[in-house]
Amino acid sequence: MKWTKYFIPTLKEVPSEAEAVSHRLMIRAGLIRKLVSGAYTYLPLGLRVLKKVENIIREEMDKKGALELFLPSLQPVELWHESGRYKALGEDLIKFKDRHNRVMVFGPTHEEVITALARDHIRSYRQLPITLYQIQTKFRDEVRPRFGVIRSREFIMKDAYSFDRDNEGLDESYKKMYEAYEAIFKRCVLKVLAVEADTGVMGGDVSHEFMMLAESGEDLLAHCESCGYAASLSVAEVKGEGLRVKGVSKDKPLKEVDTPGVSTIEKVGELLKVKPGQMVKTLVYVADGKPVAVLIRGDHEANEAKIKKYLKAGTLDMATEDIIKKATGGPLGFSGPVGLKELEIIADNAIKGMVDFVAGANKKDKHFIDVNIDRDFKVKEWRDLRMITDNDKCPKCCKNIKIEHAIEMGHVFKLGLKYSKAMKAEFLDEDGKLKPYVMGCYGIGVNRIIAAAIELSNDKKGIIWPLSIAPFQVIIVPINYEKEDVRTVADELYNSLKDKGIEVLLDDRNESAGVKFNDAELIGIPFAIVIGQRGLKKGVIEIKERATGKVLEVKRYDLSDKILTFLKES
Ligand SMILES: Nc1ncnc2c1ncn2[C@@H]1O[C@H](COP(=O)(O)OP(=O)(O)OP(=O)(O)O)[C@@H](O)[C@H]1O
Ligand SMILES: [Mg+2]
Ligand SMILES: [Zn+2]
Repeated sequence: MKWTKYFIPTLKEVPSEAEAVSHRLMIRAGLIRKLVSGAYTYLPLGLRVLKKVENIIREEMDKKGALELFLPSLQPVELWHESGRYKALGEDLIKFKDRHNRVMVFGPTHEEVITALARDHIRSYRQLPITLYQIQTKFRDEVRPRFGVIRSREFIMKDAYSFDRDNEGLDESYKKMYEAYEAIFKRCVLKVLAVEADTGVMGGDVSHEFMMLAESGEDLLAHCESCGYAASLSVAEVKGEGLRVKGVSKDKPLKEVDTPGVSTIEKVGELLKVKPGQMVKTLVYVADGKPVAVLIRGDHEANEAKIKKYLKAGTLDMATEDIIKKATGGPLGFSGPVGLKELEIIADNAIKGMVDFVAGANKKDKHFIDVNIDRDFKVKEWRDLRMITDNDKCPKCCKNIKIEHAIEMGHVFKLGLKYSKAMKAEFLDEDGKLKPYVMGCYGIGVNRIIAAAIELSNDKKGIIWPLSIAPFQVIIVPINYEKEDVRTVADELYNSLKDKGIEVLLDDRNESAGVKFNDAELIGIPFAIVIGQRGLKKGVIEIKERATGKVLEVKRYDLSDKILTFLKES
C-alpha cells in the first residue's frame, strides 16, 4: 500500500475528552473517528487491525471445533420476555417499534436468539455437543460510554454458545473455550489473568473473566503477586477475621447521643470523634421482597454479590425510606442493630471483635455509643459480606493483596439450564426423554483487544504494535522520495516485499523526513526501512525496530532476506 493512495489522517492533537492513552492514540494514528457518543468509524488502518484480531479469534475457535454462524442483530422483544431478562438489561437494551408496531431490540448479546435457534433445529442428542460462535456487532445503551472503543454503545463481540447433554459435557466445552481464550490473548501479546467472577445478570454457576491490568480499567481486581491469586472484587474472599482476638469491653452502658442532621459515617465520626473503624453501618436490603439488616464495619464496603449469594436471593435491592421506616421505626440514615424486632440481622465477620462501638439508634438525629454485641443485640449469622481491601491478606497464601484496575477482555460462563429451562429448549436424549440443554456462553470484546494492546504497548511517540496484529508489518520510509535513485530503490523494495507476501506500507509522500518518522512511529509499524541518499552511496539501508529503537544497517541486496528473518523471529 502506498501512503498517498491510502487514508491515514494522523493528528497531533486530540479532543480533550479522550482520557485513556489507547483512545488518544487510536484517534491520533488515524485508526478510528467518533460519529456520536459510543459509536466509532474504523478507518482503513484501524480496520486492518480489527480484521487481524478477528482472524486470530476465528482460527483459535475453529481449532476447538466451534462452528461459525451469523445471527441477526434485529431481535423480537418476545425472546427477552421469554428468558426473563427484559428487566435485568433495563435501559441498556435499545428498543424500537417497527412499522407493524412490534417492539424490536438491537441485540446486546445473543443467548436468547441462539437458544431459540437450538430449540427449533437441534432436537436430538446425536447433534450434541455443539459450540456455535459469531463475530457480531452488539448494541448496549451504556450509561457512560468512555475510553473510546473500550466502552462503546456499538461494539464487536465474538460470542460463542455451547450446548451439551449433561454437566460433564459442559465442563469439557467450557475447558475448550477457556483454552482457546488463553491462546487468543497470547497471540495478541496481552497479559491477561483468568479471574473467578460473579455470574450476575447472565445467571449460571461458574464463570471466569479474562482481565488485563490497566490503569484505565473500570473493574477492580484483588490480585496477589506472591501466588498469582486474582479475583474480581465481588467474589474475592476475606479470610481469617473469625480468628481475630476479641477486644475487651469497658463495660460502659449503652448510651444514646444527639447527632442532629448528620447521618453519614464520616460526619457522625467527625462529630463524635470516633474513627469509621469504630462504627457499624446497618444496611437494610430487600431480598426477594423480604427486608433484612446487614451490619458492615464503618470503614468497609458491603459486597452485594456476597450478600445476595448468602441469602440465595433472586433480587437484592436497597430498602426504600418507607420500608426502612416500617422495619426499623426510624428514618433513613439512622438505622442500627439495637432494638430491631422486625428484622433478621446478619453481620460481616469483621464486626465480631468489636466492642464499645457507634451505631444508629433508629431514631431521627440519634446514635448509640458504646454498643456491644450480644448484650445489646443478637446476630443471626456471621459471614464474609464485605469487599476485600488493600489491608486484607490473600485468601490463598496470606501474603499481601493488592487492589488493581483492570479491563475485562473476555468472559466465560457455565450457564447450566438457565436459558434452556426458561425458554423450554429441549432435545430428545438417548433414553427417549426430553431434556433441556446444558449451556455455556463465551464472549470476547474484539475492540477491547485492540485498545488493550495499545494500553499495554506504547510510548510518547505512539503505538508499538505486536507483529501479530500490526496493520502493516513493515513501513518503507524513503527520505526524498522525489529523488530518482531513492525512488527506484524504494519502489523495487516495496514490490519485492509485497511479492514475498509481506504487508508493507510505502510512505511515498512528499514530506520531510521528520514528518515521516513521526507518523511511522505514531502508527506503530514494527519495522521501518529507511532509505536515504547517504546510505545508498554506501550501498546500505537501515532497518529500525519500533519496539526497541534498534537500528541495523543492512546491505541493500540482503534486505529482503533480512526482513524475512526478522518477521519470523519476532
Ligand atoms: N460497552 C462495551 N464496549 C466494548 N466492549 C464491550 C462492552 N461491553 C462488553 N464488552 C466486551 O464484551 C465481552 C463480553 O460481554 P459481557 O456481557 O460479558 O460484558 P460485561 O460483563 O457487560 O462487560 P463490562 O463489565 O465491561 O460491562 C466483555 O468481556 C468485553 O470485552
Ligand atoms: Mg456491561
Ligand atoms: Zn497469594
